[in-house]
Amino acid sequence: MFRKLLAIAALVTGLQANAQVAQEVKMNQFITTLMQKMTLEEKIGQLNLPSVGFDVTGPLLSQGVEEKIKKGLVGGVFNTYTPVAVRKLQDMAVKETRLKIPLLFGYDVIHGHRTIFPISLGLAATWDPALVERTARAAADEATADGLNWAFSPMVDIARDPRWGRVSEGAGEDPWLGAQMAKAMVRGYQGTDLSKDNTLLACVKHFALYGAAEAGRDYNTVDMSRLKMYNEYLPPYKAAVEAGVATVMTAFNEIEGVPATGNKWLLTDLLRKQWGFKGMIVTDYTAINEMMAHGMGDAKKVGELSLNAGVDMDMVGEIFLQHGIGLVKSGKVPQSIVDAACRRVLEAKYKLGLFDDPYRYVNETRNSTQIMSAEKLLLSKEAAIKSMVLLKNANQVLPLNAAKKIAFIGPLVKDQRNLIGSWSGAGDWKKAISIWSALEQKFGAGKFLYAKGANLVDDPALRKRLNDHDGQIASDEKTPDQLIAEAVQTAQQADVVVAVLGEAFGMSGEAASRSMIGLLDNQLELLKALKKTGKPIVLVIMNGRPLTLSWEDQNMDAILETWFAGTQAGPAITEVLFGEANPSGKLTMTFPRNVGQVPIYYNAKNTGRPFDENQKYTTKYLDVPNTPLYPFGFGLSYTSFGYSDIKLSKSSITAADKLQVTVTVSNTGNYDGEETVQLYIRDMVGSITRPVKELRRFQKIALKKGESKEVSFTLTVEDLKFYNKDLKWVSEPGDFRVFVGTNSQEVKEAALTLK
Ligand code: NOJ
Repeated sequence: MFRKLLAIAALVTGLQANAQVAQEVKMNQFITTLMQKMTLEEKIGQLNLPSVGFDVTGPLLSQGVEEKIKKGLVGGVFNTYTPVAVRKLQDMAVKETRLKIPLLFGYDVIHGHRTIFPISLGLAATWDPALVERTARAAADEATADGLNWAFSPMVDIARDPRWGRVSEGAGEDPWLGAQMAKAMVRGYQGTDLSKDNTLLACVKHFALYGAAEAGRDYNTVDMSRLKMYNEYLPPYKAAVEAGVATVMTAFNEIEGVPATGNKWLLTDLLRKQWGFKGMIVTDYTAINEMMAHGMGDAKKVGELSLNAGVDMDMVGEIFLQHGIGLVKSGKVPQSIVDAACRRVLEAKYKLGLFDDPYRYVNETRNSTQIMSAEKLLLSKEAAIKSMVLLKNANQVLPLNAAKKIAFIGPLVKDQRNLIGSWSGAGDWKKAISIWSALEQKFGAGKFLYAKGANLVDDPALRKRLNDHDGQIASDEKTPDQLIAEAVQTAQQADVVVAVLGEAFGMSGEAASRSMIGLLDNQLELLKALKKTGKPIVLVIMNGRPLTLSWEDQNMDAILETWFAGTQAGPAITEVLFGEANPSGKLTMTFPRNVGQVPIYYNAKNTGRPFDENQKYTTKYLDVPNTPLYPFGFGLSYTSFGYSDIKLSKSSITAADKLQVTVTVSNTGNYDGEETVQLYIRDMVGSITRPVKELRRFQKIALKKGESKEVSFTLTVEDLKFYNKDLKWVSEPGDFRVFVGTNSQEVKEAALTLK
């Protein structure tokens, strides 16, 4: 019987594989026939990706796009959406060009399309890949109902430097967690069938290492060893490729002295040959042109470098359009390279089903039913609640008791503009619900006290920079002193103060690096004045990166990290503050004590002189401890959790064994709650030095008050492997440690040997 079942299963798999091969043959024939009709100019036209719309993220603007579309000189556009706008351009492509090849429509769908979810760093803090997948699915559903068929997401750049503004767009510092989130998002966007009308091409970015910009300054130089790349920075991109991501975007930075966009080792040897990536590679915005400023040569030369490196599509720069023909004619770029690139663009279109129906994603009915549907708004609230991280809660000041007199103070209490965060292109901030209106909805008007207390940004130079890009930050008619005086008076009438402070949305995201990452001075002054009232203070922060909160940690009673929580920020924050929901988010990026500790991350290497208080010549700062303020994996709950010791199924395993790691986790507090149980390993001795801890598993569990659960993880030798100095993926026999705990620092420990 069992054998029969196996035979049937093999037959089904065989049939599926055959069907897939047959489909590929059909696609290849279709494209070959089409390409036989194409001129070299038309082939190069397919490699051109101009921007049509308003979201400009570089100094260059696409010109004369409609004329170019009609001439067959455009393969796709981005920044155009809505059925009306997309239909107009698609009409030009399929009705007015010689070969009627449909266009791709791309967009930065990053953390939601119209319904905005928490920023990606917040989504990662849910430690819930299934939830993150649902948000990507919902975003795809909306984006495809809005004419789009290509999302420039997920961004999976590992980030260890919170000065870099784009940490808000990724999953944080850990390669393993980053890989889980990358896979979840690719599954969410692409589903299992790209030709459906609600799935689209995902685009993993920025390949590669963009998050390692020196000094956290955006677009800056990156330089690292291959060992570090392979073990610490590349895993999330590789995971996305293994999950079948359809497209890859190159990064702005250089790698080993050659910009990623012209780096043949990166794009061809590693991505295509070693990893087997078969999809399309697009550059970032004018990244080919920028190779001139990098010092790689003139426009012709950088075009040659990037085509020969393996780039397929040129975003905005039009270097291929201007120089492609000349490069082929002069023999600098083989015609076969242009053919292969064109083929990959056409394949993407074929897989989307655009040759069957160029208007597959232009559907007014879906547009009116899918966008901002009640279901998506609920999901947005759920994700927002689960993304929040409780950083401190002294004397159980949270959850709040609504019977008390509560003063809400701060420029973000009534704010809507900032709630959807950066990279929320098609999101309408006017549809985001502020904390204040959520409070009024829940409790009625006039229940709570309010004072603005401070301008969100007081520094005129910073305010101008942010307002030049739609920051909409006003300076109050009252002076800063008057604002503070009013806030103090308001606080004095209350039993408890909730201060809602943080960054403006434009202070993180692209081109938004900061050298100091604390609350702005004027906000800190407000907090210091409030502190003097002696009232308990709950600090609610909104921000796109880890902040330095040492003073706040010492002086506030509670701190709730809410990131930029999206369309439903207000209701979500209100539910958490009043205990309808219990916070369960955990940090995926270390919060430093001060900016001088940066880069600081949990999976660091040991030194030869580990810190020892009694020894001068050990690794340390004179003025700050080595430890972070809040470590990776950290986050409190209104309840508390206890961990038993670790049980290993064996203390010594072979490469063929499976190891069970078990702990019992108990809810020891007064509320039902959720806990993310984290498992780390350490390789004690290696042929190269190994990190002091590496995340390998996590499980999020719900525990009722007083309940205990056994949590079990299965590890195999795969989990103990790493890239050795020959860049081979190996395990090495010897001693390991297994840690399980509530964050990367508070763990139980067990010894393990690999034979
Ligand atoms: C530049 C950004 O680096 C990238 O992430 C984005 O997808 C493109 N601009 C397109 O807007």
